Amino acid sequence: MGEFSAEEKEAMKAEAGIAACNFVKDGMKIGIGTGSTVKYTILELGRRIREDGLEISGIPTSEVTEKLSIEQGIPLINWNECSGLDLVIDGADEFDSNLHLIKGGGGALLREKIVAESSAGMVVVADASKQVEVLGTFPLPIEVNPYGWEQTQRRIQAICSGPVVRRGPDYLTDNGNPILDAHFGPVISNPVEMEAQLRSIAGVVEVGLFTNTADVVVLAAPNGCEMIRKENARL
Ligand code: A5P
Repeated sequence: MGEFSAEEKEAMKAEAGIAACNFVKDGMKIGIGTGSTVKYTILELGRRIREDGLEISGIPTSEVTEKLSIEQGIPLINWNECSGLDLVIDGADEFDSNLHLIKGGGGALLREKIVAESSAGMVVVADASKQVEVLGTFPLPIEVNPYGWEQTQRRIQAICSGPVVRRGPDYLTDNGNPILDAHFGPVISNPVEMEAQLRSIAGVVEVGLFTNTADVVVLAAPNGCEMIRKENARL
């Protein structure tokens, strides 16, 4: 994406964010992701509600998304009245050819994963810079419990060849937890195993590896959007 201007990149994000709305139908309960691409999805859903009478309800994956969704007039529901969603639309920081993802650059990974695992399908909106052969160039976000986070950091460090860095001394997620960014480099060739290994460390609340979760990537490109579908996609 280095060759594109900021305006061109923004236009591509908008195109992907809006194109993903084709998956949204009347009556659906949807998970509403977080990030600069899915922002355009939220704006488009708001437009369709106002102009086309689209009837949906949603669960947001972050406080920022909740605020924007309310501004856009998207009816929101809670987990106490909902046991599953039809679809989630969310961004990604990286995706590989199996549509395994790194997420959490915006710090929303825990709520994003709860929502993704509760959805009958997942659409990812991304630009071409997110497509990689092997995951790990983007530092892997890991949400950890505040108690003993330094020790959790050491235990993650034992399996990560690059630095494991706390994201800002005062940075906390919407859930009140720190994030550690693990600089693996492009070596996460078995993300399923890595996700399980990291989740087995006490103190790790959630890992930004989303494996076997995404069905479709709506990939923004200069001349339109490309759909990348996983084999056996649910959508
Ligand atoms: C939020 O925590 C992330 O998982 C985002 O979904 C991800 O960072 C993608 O965001 P952009 O669309 O802003 O690149």
